[in-house]
Amino acid sequence: MTIAKPYYPPFVHVEPTKENIPFVELGVVDLSKYVEGPEGLEVRKQLAAELEEAVTTQGFFFLEGHGYPKSKLDYLQAVSQAILDLPLEEKERYSAGSAQSDADAIDDGKKLGAERGSGFKQRGYWAMQNGVRDAIEHIKYRDLLHPTLRNKHSYPPLVQQHLPEIAEYFSFLHLNVVRKLASLFDIILELPEGTVWNLFEVHEDQPELSGGGFGRAMLYHGMSASDEAKTNNTWLRGHSDASALTFITSQPMASLQFRDYHDGEWKYVGYRPNALVLNIGDRFEFLTGGWAKSTIHRVVSPPKDQRGHRRLGVIYFCDIKPSVYIDPDTLQSPKLARLGYKKPEEWERITGEQWDDQKAKSFGKAYINLPPGDEPAPFYIYGRLAERWHQLGK
Ligand SMILES: [Fe+2]
Repeated sequence: MTIAKPYYPPFVHVEPTKENIPFVELGVVDLSKYVEGPEGLEVRKQLAAELEEAVTTQGFFFLEGHGYPKSKLDYLQAVSQAILDLPLEEKERYSAGSAQSDADAIDDGKKLGAERGSGFKQRGYWAMQNGVRDAIEHIKYRDLLHPTLRNKHSYPPLVQQHLPEIAEYFSFLHLNVVRKLASLFDIILELPEGTVWNLFEVHEDQPELSGGGFGRAMLYHGMSASDEAKTNNTWLRGHSDASALTFITSQPMASLQFRDYHDGEWKYVGYRPNALVLNIGDRFEFLTGGWAKSTIHRVVSPPKDQRGHRRLGVIYFCDIKPSVYIDPDTLQSPKLARLGYKKPEEWERITGEQWDDQKAKSFGKAYINLPPGDEPAPFYIYGRLAERWHQLGK
């Protein structure tokens, strides 16, 4: 007997804009072409070439043919909306951090902050420019790949009820999609099969020995006109992700931009139904010595015909094992060595966990976000420039 799933109103995305937005031509990697085994090697080499082009130019690309059913992803978005529309007092009871980012001090190791803790982030947590606070809510899930541990976090009953489906999506991405991408990276980086996956593999209920990261559903409410005037229409300030790889559900609201690595201009990411937008994060960039690009991105208010709608994204911040040293000495890639990518002298030798501890908690701090302009204040962590190292000094 199958039990009917509870019904929730679907999340209705805004209609695509009719305005003439100069969307960037992004690379497309179609994973449905992926063939396992020795007979699939030639096809995988072709896919690897497409992936290489995407990650070394813009660091952003569309992933098609990922294989996760649209109906399930639609339902996950409906559930996410229901969760994020729970009464405020219930969301506050299961808060992931303090009410404001600056209260989650960087040097307090016990506090993960709303960026990384499990539970809800309320609106206004992050400081933006000119005294404005953000208008974004999210819920964060940790340990989704660990069947026992994922149930030990404190969530409202509605989340607990749907945790199996939530975990299913993120597990699929990790165990199926990331495994395929890892094998393509082996080809690109001229490494023995399984080398990159070894950094991402999962040991159940042992997160300290596992790749993984966390899942998030993120709801943008949009800001008032007066707040938008003070932030130059920015809903989420430019940043790079501390993750290794980030997966975002593609959506029609024209508001995601990245900073073109080559010309420094902000470019609009378009909409590709049923595709995922994938971007490289800091940890993968460091692992490859800067070969793969952890590109700065932001969210801005949409064109006029898309105003007044909410924007929902389901995001997987996928990480390698926390103890992996994030520089090219880890991979020992003949390709990267040949191309001259090696650990710069000024980089301290650090693990992904060390980076995450410092970087993630700097995100919405006032002293970093208050300066005018379209980038936060430059700062260094373990000898590595955070947030905008592509542009500094160019
Ligand atoms: Fe991001």
